[in-house]
Formats: sequence, structure tokens, C-alpha cells
Amino acid sequence: MIGINSSKSAIHCVLIAFFMGCGITAAPAHGQTVTGKWTTTTNWRVLDSGEIDRGILELQQTGSDLTGTITTIGHVYHVKGTVTGNHFELTGATYNSKPHITGELAGKDLHLTKDGDFLDAVPSKPGDDYPAIERVEPPVLHDVPYNGLAKTPPMGWNSWNQFQSKIDDKAVREVVDTMVSNGMRDAGYIYVNIDDTWEGVRDAQGNLSSNKKFPDMKALADYVHSKGMKFGIYSSPGPRTCAEYQGSYGHEEQDAKTFANWGIDYLKYDWCGARLIYGSDSLQAVYQKMGVALLKTGRPIVYSLCEYGVGNVEAWGAKVGGNLWRTTGDISDTWSSMIKNIDKQASTAPYAGPGHWNDPDMLEIGNGQMTDEEYRTHMSLWALTAAPLLAGNDIRTMTPAIKEILMNHDVIAVDQDALGKQATPVKSGDLEMWVKPLADGSVAVGVVNLGASENTASVKASDLGLGAKVKSARDLWAHANVKFRDGAYAAKIPSHGVLLLRVSAKK
Ligand code: GLA
Repeated sequence: MIGINSSKSAIHCVLIAFFMGCGITAAPAHGQTVTGKWTTTTNWRVLDSGEIDRGILELQQTGSDLTGTITTIGHVYHVKGTVTGNHFELTGATYNSKPHITGELAGKDLHLTKDGDFLDAVPSKPGDDYPAIERVEPPVLHDVPYNGLAKTPPMGWNSWNQFQSKIDDKAVREVVDTMVSNGMRDAGYIYVNIDDTWEGVRDAQGNLSSNKKFPDMKALADYVHSKGMKFGIYSSPGPRTCAEYQGSYGHEEQDAKTFANWGIDYLKYDWCGARLIYGSDSLQAVYQKMGVALLKTGRPIVYSLCEYGVGNVEAWGAKVGGNLWRTTGDISDTWSSMIKNIDKQASTAPYAGPGHWNDPDMLEIGNGQMTDEEYRTHMSLWALTAAPLLAGNDIRTMTPAIKEILMNHDVIAVDQDALGKQATPVKSGDLEMWVKPLADGSVAVGVVNLGASENTASVKASDLGLGAKVKSARDLWAHANVKFRDGAYAAKIPSHGVLLLRVSAKK
């Protein structure tokens, strides 16, 4: 519940004070600087309900430098920027949002554009601050029964990495159609998941609707199902999501029912705005609440926890009914981000298994900032670590090379292996070797060249735990059988490339 209750203002003050210091009500020094406190009179974020979601800007100008904070319902942004004459530019960040704001001092007002949207701000009046958000105590911990889903790591597509807020019903249908016609669905990419920015407003009964980009969620779910695919959605345990749309705070059961009624098969539940209310010691209980709510709907819904790897999630993710949990911060389409995320998997391996998986975040394959060589490494590492394979590119326009990477059936088989073991790495210089035992007694072995120049890798049968002589080995990217000689196989690996083998031993 978001309580509009002045008796709660003390808590609010504490919350705000934590981030920005309470009671700063200095009037802006108009005409000279933008220093002061401002309240937007137009929506900070586009709402299609007509209600105003304000942004409260507290800015401090020193010469041409600008610093400050922006508070919205679910977030506090720390911003900085520069001023030139009457114009200024600000960038800031909450957990993931990096709004780009430009503005000018126009008489007594500020005229702003935020990520292309026009906003007006006026000097703040007493009472403009957001009312306190009442903390709803999370439940007492208990183990939530396993929902029986995700026996192998979930596979599908998610809108966020490529589309962010520019996703709508039409694009999702086109993605679905393409995944059917290009064979992705049949290769195992079953879930089509809409990420943040689909959310609309709540009605008087608190029922959540989708916004105008998604006129009829149930109809869209029916469409996805009619194509033999499954449909996923996104929410947050906070009052607002990371992109500041409606979260499920105080409406957990109600939203779970709504999702089930729409025909949702997968929920990504993203901590973000919840951090304004709960400490990370409440993570497990807060996630348990939605885990129970999903089970109660009676609909099989894969439960994906998104909390950036904080709070030792791998130790309790399955206990709250989670089928996968993020072990890292957000991935971006760079080699260093991808490697950073996979490095964090070394310690999480014991916690992966059928029904419950570590999630180093969605794939960036095909988003354009890495080479195809690097994308092959990305795909190999996700497969070796039994990570969910959620493509994050524009499926409608991908190149044949990207399609081949995402749809390499041999690599997918490594990821989807029924044993559900997660590989761990052994590093030697620039080469890092990951070994994954497979259900049929064979192993997958990947050697990644982290270095800036070509390197020769030698894979020894004795490193693979096979305990006997190699019977056969296949290079899963070259699609060719290779021979181990004297118990070893050597190959050249280009910078940032990978050698990925499936090796079986004589019984
Ligand atoms: C967080 C998540 C991302 C994405 C965005 C959406 O940053 O980690 O994967 O869902 O929120 O706002």
C-alpha cells in the first residue's frame, strides 16, 4: 500500500533523508542558477491514466557544475551535469535507469526533456514530497514447494536487452511469428517474455492493467499460445519497477491472479523499487511472498528472481519457489560485461540443478557490439554453466551468422542436458577451461581465450574426469569430429574465441 498519510511523514523523512537529506526546501535562485527544489507538473514518466507521477528535483549549481537528486515514487536518482547559460544537461542513475535530461531555466519554471519526453517543473511547495510508503511486513520464512517446472534451464526470448521501453504488442507478435518460422521455437526457445514497461494503472479495486502499448494482454497470451509458445511477463516487489512503472507492492496475490487469468507462464520479479522499503535481509521473505502467490493461482508459472545476485540468493532461491535467480548485475553488450557475469558463476555451481538455475542474465548475442567470435564464446559459456538461454536481440532482423549461433543444436544440447550440472572454470594464463559432465557420461569442455592474441589450447583427457581413454570427440562449432592423440587434443583459439568439445570415453 502506498499510504497518503501525514503520520507516516516521519518514515518518509527517514527514507528520503537516507538518500538526499530531509527538509531541504530552499527556493530556487531564479534567473541566476537552477539551485533549489523543483516539482514536475507534467508526468515524470508517461502514464496513460492522466494521473501525475511527479519528479522532485533537488539541484545544486556550483559554477557550471550541477549535482543533486531526483525523487520519484519508487526511486531516488543521483544526478550530475553541467550548466551553460540558461541551459543545463543532467545524467543520473538509480540501479539501472540512466535518464538523460536537458533543461532550461524559463522564468520561474524549468523546462525539461527526459529521454525525449517534455516535462515542466516549478519551484516545490511544502507538501510536494511523496507520502510515506508503509512497510508491509514480509511473511515468516518457510519452504515453498517446487512447482515442477524448468527441469532444464528455461529457453526463450526477452524484450529488454534490445528493445527496453520500445516494445509493444505488434513487435511481440512479430517476434513470435519469426521464432516459429525460423525454427527457434522448435530448437527449444519456447518462452516469449515481455520485460519492464508494459504496465498500466490500477483500477479502484487495485486490479492492474497493461498500458496502451499492450491493449489486451489476454489476447496476446492467447496468440503466443496458439503458436505453441509460452508467455512471460515482468513485475517488481516494489511499488515501482526499475523503469518506474507499477510494481506489485501490496498487490502480490492480486497480481499473481491477474497474471494467471491472462495466461502468463513465466514471471520475472525484479527487486529494484523494493529497496526503498526493505533491506536486503528481507529479500528471501519478500520473494517467498510472490512464490506462494504464484503457486496459489494453480497455474504453472516459472518464477524468475531478479535481484542482481545480492543476498546469497543461490542459497535460498529454490526455497522461495524460484526456478532461476539472477547471480549478477545487468549484462551489457560488451565482452567485459559478459565475462564479468560469467566469472561470478564459479562459486554458484553447487546450487544449479533441475528446477532451479543460476542466471547470469539474458543473452546479448546479436545486439551488435561484440564480434561473432565473442558471441560464440558467450553462447558456449552460458551452455556450459547451464544458464537460461533467453535471446535478447531483435529476432526479426538477425543475420544468418547470429541465427546459427543461437540455434546451434549441439550447443543447446549441452545447456539443456538432463543432468543439470554447471561447469566450473580452471584458469591457465589467458586460457580458461570449463568442464560440464553430461547425462550420458560424456563431458562438454570449453576453452576460452581471454587474451588479446591467438593461443593454443591443449585439452587433456585426464583433465576431463572421464577416467578412461577418449572414444570420440566433436568440435561443436566446427561441426566436425576431432581426434585425441596421446590423450590430448590441441587447437588454436583466436583472441576471445572458444573451443567447445563434447567428449566421450570408452567404457
Ligand atoms: C533491471 C533488470 C533488467 C531489466 C530492467 C528493466 O535492471 O535487472 O534485466 O529487467 O530492470 O527495467
